[in-house]
Amino acid sequence: MPRPTPPPRVHDSLVLESRDVQFDWSGLPLHWIPDEPFATHTVNVLHLLLPEGERWFVRVFSDALPMITDEQLREEVLGFIGQEAIHAEAHQEVLDHLLGQGLDPRPYVRQVDWLFRRVLGDKPGLTGRRRRENVIERVAFVAAIEHFTAFLGNWALNSPGLDRAQADPTMLDLLRWHGAEEVEHRSVAYDLLVHLDPGYLRRVRGMLVSGPLLVHLWVRGVRFLLAADPELQGRIRPTWRDARIQARRGLLPDPRAMARSAVRYFKPGYHPTHEGSSSQALSYLATSPAARAAAAR
Ligand SMILES: [Fe+2]
Ligand SMILES: [Fe+2]
Repeated sequence: MPRPTPPPRVHDSLVLESRDVQFDWSGLPLHWIPDEPFATHTVNVLHLLLPEGERWFVRVFSDALPMITDEQLREEVLGFIGQEAIHAEAHQEVLDHLLGQGLDPRPYVRQVDWLFRRVLGDKPGLTGRRRRENVIERVAFVAAIEHFTAFLGNWALNSPGLDRAQADPTMLDLLRWHGAEEVEHRSVAYDLLVHLDPGYLRRVRGMLVSGPLLVHLWVRGVRFLLAADPELQGRIRPTWRDARIQARRGLLPDPRAMARSAVRYFKPGYHPTHEGSSSQALSYLATSPAARAAAAR
């Protein structure tokens, strides 16, 4: 059966630069939002999930490369792979720092590793059409997750509450540099998915699996970090009410805004360019201390 012709892509061409940033974590306090361990650890879940998650993105997109027939999209996917590989390593360094502070993240990270490598990983026995299907299905999961990373990146770029709370400036730069690159490349995974399979059903399935999985992993991650924190020793039990209170103070993204954003992914006319601002992302990258230092090296 002939494959349907993919619809035209609706955004301008992207040239994605890999900024080889470095951060010095030696002075990072355990609670880098001062006196806010719940908000600190809710954001810290990103450091638990992203190293393995973004290495998985790189593997999925590397598997998809031979299936791409559009040269511009191929360049964008290569740029995406370069950016995500650096993101993974930047968050890995925070994990290593947490371990040095007496908070051992390894039991949780082992579960995340199992999920991305075994459950969502490459299935070596598959060939031909079944392999192609498997790769496209995983691209659909990445596209849905990238909707959330763009949402979170947009939040990080617009989070003056973190500055008011005197959050650690190096951590803020990590979150905003990463967030800006997420906003910058927010269309790539979706455009790749549409290129490989323009069907609505695949897109919806990607979100129906990825959305609840992400919420589950995040809640488990917050509980894990609060229990493993050597200063708290399990004294704080997280609740959704606390999350909403901290969101109102600007210390966390609003869970309800995130849920509304997920619903937008189901709209037939959805495209990631409608979420976040490329010009704001690029203007942060022009002033980010880590990105400027990388450019000067
Ligand atoms: Fe990333
Ligand atoms: Fe991304």
